[in-house]
Amino acid sequence: MATAKKSTSKPKKKTLKLELDRYSGNVGPDVVDVQALYKNHGVFTYDPGFMSTASCQSAITYIDGDKGELMYRGYPIEQLAQQSSYLECCYLLLFGELPTTDQLIEFEDTIRNHTLVHEQLMTFYHGFRRDAHPMAILCGVVGALSSFYHDSLDVNDPEHRQLSGYRIIAKMPTLVAMAYKYSIGQAFVYPDNGLTYSGNFLKMMFAVPAEPYEVNPVVEKAMDRIFILHADHEQNASTSTVRLAGSSGANPFACIAAGVASLWGPAHGGANEAVLDMLAEIGSVENIPDYIEKVKDKLNPTRLMGFGHRVYKNFDPRATIMRETCHEVLSELGVNDPMLDIAMELERIALEDDYFVSRKLYPNVDFYSGIILRAIGIPTNMFTCIFALSRTVGWISHWIEMLGEEQQKIGRPRQLYTGAKHRDFVPLSERKKK
Ligand code: CMC
Repeated sequence: MATAKKSTSKPKKKTLKLELDRYSGNVGPDVVDVQALYKNHGVFTYDPGFMSTASCQSAITYIDGDKGELMYRGYPIEQLAQQSSYLECCYLLLFGELPTTDQLIEFEDTIRNHTLVHEQLMTFYHGFRRDAHPMAILCGVVGALSSFYHDSLDVNDPEHRQLSGYRIIAKMPTLVAMAYKYSIGQAFVYPDNGLTYSGNFLKMMFAVPAEPYEVNPVVEKAMDRIFILHADHEQNASTSTVRLAGSSGANPFACIAAGVASLWGPAHGGANEAVLDMLAEIGSVENIPDYIEKVKDKLNPTRLMGFGHRVYKNFDPRATIMRETCHEVLSELGVNDPMLDIAMELERIALEDDYFVSRKLYPNVDFYSGIILRAIGIPTNMFTCIFALSRTVGWISHWIEMLGEEQQKIGRPRQLYTGAKHRDFVPLSERKKK
């Protein structure tokens, strides 16, 4: 079978000097307006990986990667993680302000009202193999929600957008827990609306119909914190995917399913699972030096999973909070995990080794969240689903923000074409193998 040839032609370099408008946001680097570049000068901008490109305006989340700062609607993540709850953060991300007591009670009630999923959706789960990756199941069932909630799919109606947002935030824990229960052959556990968002999730994950279940408050708090820390992260790959899918007018559940798919990759949300796989591969503290040498070898593609970040070139502020929570949970549960010893030694070496220091590769949020989730008893292949659950509010907030813009355009990037120039079709009988 022939495979498409990779273009080897190098683009020719020329210089173009231009005067462009420059805009300032409230904080952060200015942006240069290139919207009319093609119309006025016949050229596109070229920025693979969006290294310097702002794809939209947004008032939701701000990151200063050099300072290691993350804020939701202006509030520092450290304050939110210490003093707030996940649902309070959801309200903040969706509506822009912290709720009053009445507003929070009403919001929590609304979310509670939507925790159940349609009984027919359960049959979807039975169509999957028991050993299917739970992210594969999640991509499918989240997309399938669009076939159940026709009454909230008009993307041009702000009330429909809001109702879809409530529904998906409320149903995500139910869907994620169902994916887990299905994979281990246990009965689905219905939501318990007398519990908190995180407590209910833990119950749906770990209760069995034959036994009573009590939520451990330390674990509940840790779960809530994991949700808060992953709730939004401005224009990352999955959020940009949701925005791009949404820009065509696709329905919210289809857009969130696209976000789930994008999150799955090991360079993004899949990293927390990859961290645990890496720790298992290392096996013991004595094997760390050899592993580090492998990571530093330019000819070897192995990376230290849970280290480095596209935006944070200083400590990831979420990692600092996760590290503390990690120790709290392990001591509460009395877990003595050899994986944690490996993790701590890796962290120590990486923070001293010139390879990591010079490249500003610090532990990121996923480095610690994986260890906590393991201690709670959540299997590795569920980690990215939990990230997806937490990030759903961020995706929905960005989707709602984008659709609320006055002049909303379909996202359509340009390209630098390096393929064949015009050529004429050759009939099959005259073609020679190249
Ligand atoms: N281990 C070893 N070397 C690394 C790592 C790593 N984890 N990350 C980056 N590098 C090196 C890379 O080889 C390159 O070296 P050189 O300059 O000698 O070629 C340099 O650092 C810059 O790397 P890059 O690929 O240009 O950096 P990036 O900003 O494109 O990549 C990243 C960011 C997160 C994809 C990358 O650091 C990585 O693959 N990390 C491991 C996966 C991971 O933990 N991802 C979770 C991110 S946090 C959760 C989320 O927000 O989704």
